[in-house]
Amino acid sequence: MALFTIQDEFRYEITHKIYEGGMGIVYEAEQHGAREFVKRVAIKVIRQDYANQKQFIENFIGEAKLAVDLIHTNIVQTYHLGETNGVYFMAMELIRGVNLEQFAQQLADRRRKLPKELAVFIVSRVARGLAYAHAKTDQHGKPLGLVHRDVSFKNIMIAFEGDVKLMDFGIAKARGFLVDNEGEMVAGKADYMSPEQANFQITDQRSDLFSAGVVLAHLLLGRNIFKGATAEESRQQMMTLPIPDFRALDPRVDDRLNEILHRALARDLDLRYPSGEELLYDLEHYIYHSGYGPTNETLGKFIRELFGPACPQPPARPSPAARSISKASRTLLTVSDWVRAHSGKAGIPRWLIASSTLD
Ligand SMILES: Nc1ncnc2c1ncn2[C@@H]1O[C@H](COP(=O)(O)OP(=O)(O)O)[C@@H](O)[C@H]1O
Ligand SMILES: [Mg+2]
Repeated sequence: MALFTIQDEFRYEITHKIYEGGMGIVYEAEQHGAREFVKRVAIKVIRQDYANQKQFIENFIGEAKLAVDLIHTNIVQTYHLGETNGVYFMAMELIRGVNLEQFAQQLADRRRKLPKELAVFIVSRVARGLAYAHAKTDQHGKPLGLVHRDVSFKNIMIAFEGDVKLMDFGIAKARGFLVDNEGEMVAGKADYMSPEQANFQITDQRSDLFSAGVVLAHLLLGRNIFKGATAEESRQQMMTLPIPDFRALDPRVDDRLNEILHRALARDLDLRYPSGEELLYDLEHYIYHSGYGPTNETLGKFIRELFGPACPQPPARPSPAARSISKASRTLLTVSDWVRAHSGKAGIPRWLIASSTLD
């Protein structure tokens, strides 16, 4: 029973597209409140190709409801699930930074290698977010049994301040939240999935730790050893590729780091890390046991230097007068304006259709 109710309407003005992915489009937007209050947020919507499929909508709604309770520095925070003219959108914390795919591309373009300590640091933050999510319970204290199932380069971002954020719980499974047909359908990105996931088996939280191991190996080597020419080939590799001696592939990998990688990538579940906490402990021990190790600040410095001028500065807040002028010269649309203006006959916004970069 509520004490009392406050009725308010959020207004989001979409400023630009950040990312167009296989299933969703992510925009940067301004959330407007009273008296010129503005908060910059990210807004995610489902692509038109999927927007008519009930299961995708249900998963999208499930993702929002599940992720909204995940409040942790290493997880992108979800603020709101909205619906306008039949289109659902999710408002999230805006991360000014890049996903690991973009980060790796920039490293390759600059012919730079990611320092080993930073690679371990990044994955330690992912393990920290996972340990938190895995331990999440419902309001009665019953574990949700949450498994992310899509821990991969594209679902991890590094902010230019050096924070590492796990995101996209779109195919996570958790009791009572998301439509789950595990065992019939393979969900997740083929070249990061655990062997049990690749083999259509029921997964538990250890599946995410295998994927975190793949991410670590990929960050260190600059390539994903499991990646095949096709998704199917990758899926096979996840199940059969002999896990290499990483010391032979990268001279920076010592015995201890090789052991950590092998334990994360163990196909035998009894040999794999049993929990995110244990993976986190080993990764942190590895980088900090001998003294000062990497921090958000050192990672932030590295990434800002790597991207140089391409690394956007937080926009300076214009004065209220300047704002209204610049507002008039920009075309800002609210989500519902946009949907209304671009709706096709069936009420389906065409801007959802105008997308090209399926991955
Ligand atoms: N909150 C956010 N802030 C900034 N960029 C984001 C945010 N959410 C997603 N992105 C960008 O969009 C990409 C896809 O987002 P994601 O949530 O993984 O969508 P999809 O379901 O399409 O995979 C990410 O890799 C990242 O580059
Ligand atoms: Mg994603």
